[in-house]
Amino acid sequence: MFKVSTLSRGVLNLSNTFTRTYRPMTRCRGTNTFTASSKRPFSSSLLLQHGHLKKPKKGEELHVTYILKDGTQKTFEVSAGETLLDIAQAHNLDMEGACGGSCACSTCHVIVDPDYYDALPEPDDDENDMLDLAYGLTETSRLGCQIKMSKDIEGIRVALPAMTRNVNANDFN
Ligand code: FES
Repeated sequence: MFKVSTLSRGVLNLSNTFTRTYRPMTRCRGTNTFTASSKRPFSSSLLLQHGHLKKPKKGEELHVTYILKDGTQKTFEVSAGETLLDIAQAHNLDMEGACGGSCACSTCHVIVDPDYYDALPEPDDDENDMLDLAYGLTETSRLGCQIKMSKDIEGIRVALPAMTRNVNANDFN
């Protein structure tokens, strides 16, 4: 067993036995960043963030409707800045969010109502890469963790796809 003795400048020195250089991990637009590079700050994901939504201020309520797999519609009143993933998880909807919103899976795949799709900011390359792995990709597919509520998308409607894909070791057996 190796003991970690040094962690600096992106290099992890394991009891002087061998040295491994870590490549920095990048994320989409999330606020939590994990990296072993010396040029970027180290921080970890706050697991308790998920499921804890800010109550919207009076007069600033925004609305989002989820269309569930069985066709049921659920509408919620939320604050600006909340992601569709956090809102879904706070209300126990069936959105896994396996990577915790770090744009490293496609289990928060949502299909956006075309009437709202153009009002969303363009997906970045990381999000597009993950969307390529999503089952049932459509012209208006997005990742729920990358969509933050704002006045521009007030009333947005999103459908949860019938299936999502979480790539794990078992997929390669
Ligand atoms: S939760 Fe993994 S990409 Fe959104």
